Amino acid sequence: MTSFSPRVFSGVQPTGNLHLGNYLGAIAQFVPLQDRMPTIYCVVDLHAVTAKFEPEHLARTTREVTAAYLAAGIDPKKAIVFNQSQVKEHAELAWIFNCVARMGWLSRMTQFKEKAGKNRENASVGLFAYPSLMAADILAYRATHVPVGDDQKQHLELTRDIAQKFNNDFAERIAQLGLGVPNPTPSPELPDELYFPLTEPIIAGPATRIMSLRDGTKKMSKSDPSDLSRINLRDSAEEIAKKIRKAKTDPEPLPSEEEGLAERAEAANLVGIYAALTGGTKADVLRDYGGQPFSVFKPALADLAVSKLAPMADEMNRLLADPATIDAVLKDGAERAGAIAEPVLKDVRAICGFLDVR
Ligand code: TYM
Repeated sequence: MTSFSPRVFSGVQPTGNLHLGNYLGAIAQFVPLQDRMPTIYCVVDLHAVTAKFEPEHLARTTREVTAAYLAAGIDPKKAIVFNQSQVKEHAELAWIFNCVARMGWLSRMTQFKEKAGKNRENASVGLFAYPSLMAADILAYRATHVPVGDDQKQHLELTRDIAQKFNNDFAERIAQLGLGVPNPTPSPELPDELYFPLTEPIIAGPATRIMSLRDGTKKMSKSDPSDLSRINLRDSAEEIAKKIRKAKTDPEPLPSEEEGLAERAEAANLVGIYAALTGGTKADVLRDYGGQPFSVFKPALADLAVSKLAPMADEMNRLLADPATIDAVLKDGAERAGAIAEPVLKDVRAICGFLDVR
């Protein structure tokens, strides 16, 4: 290889309650990329078992994320769509990366601190090592770009740190075995040839961090106990309209300029959602609705959200009524993903010096 060929990888956990943040921050961003470069979209079921989970529900939630991908417009002929547990290279590379990553690096991950809460002693080792598995997901395909919401930024920085340390620690063997790729951005911290790319995050648009509808300081999340805090992708038109009507706001009309949203988290969030649903910017929305009260803006937002999300929910429900078709997509995807990851792991085993007797 003379340079890393562009490749996109991203994933969504099958932990239930897929919501508007997952859609606008991630899944909607996945769709246009499939026409620009090779793309791999994974349902990360191994990540879903790092916290409490119900084995009886895992197959259903895995199919649900797959249905959301397809209903959003991901074409499984163009993109590779599969569930992580079916390609064993993810777990194998994660183990190697557990031995590359440092305890200190993982201890600094804010998502671990948030999810483990006060009772850190009782968190699973898997939850602690979660970012190593995420790095393995990406690097098993030597992916160069990863579209995600803003909350995954720190994990992607860690992925680069792991790639950098692997490239450095094994530089000599990578060169000896002729497996290196010229470093596209030479720097004193890295050798001239790399095995793993330093992956770039794609965190773009007005919806990289959708906030709770009940509290503009909290992220919209699958785990919020209040269902009113989020719009689920399979909510009915009535539920969507009710949640937007009940969304927390302030008594002021919308400002005409974006600066006027600075101290108004809830207003900024609703304007951002409107912008993302139309594919425009917050400035566009304020040009149309500046000076208007929420009694005018909320019904317009509800109509827009229903018009975009209801057809997707219908399509998800249609797909979920036919699980065999979803499973066939995942099977084909797992075969294609495995064909890319397998030779990478063969290289990694050789680089690490494991005795190959098979
Ligand atoms: P997960 O399943 O929590 O979320 C899936 C995607 O949705 C984005 N997201 C949001 N975006 C905007 N506003 C929000 N409120 C919001 N909530 C969630 C997330 O940023 C994410 O892009 N660790 C990942 C899954 C993962 C992964 C990977 C991602 C595993 N391996 C490799 C990329 C590459 C996660 O927990 O996503």
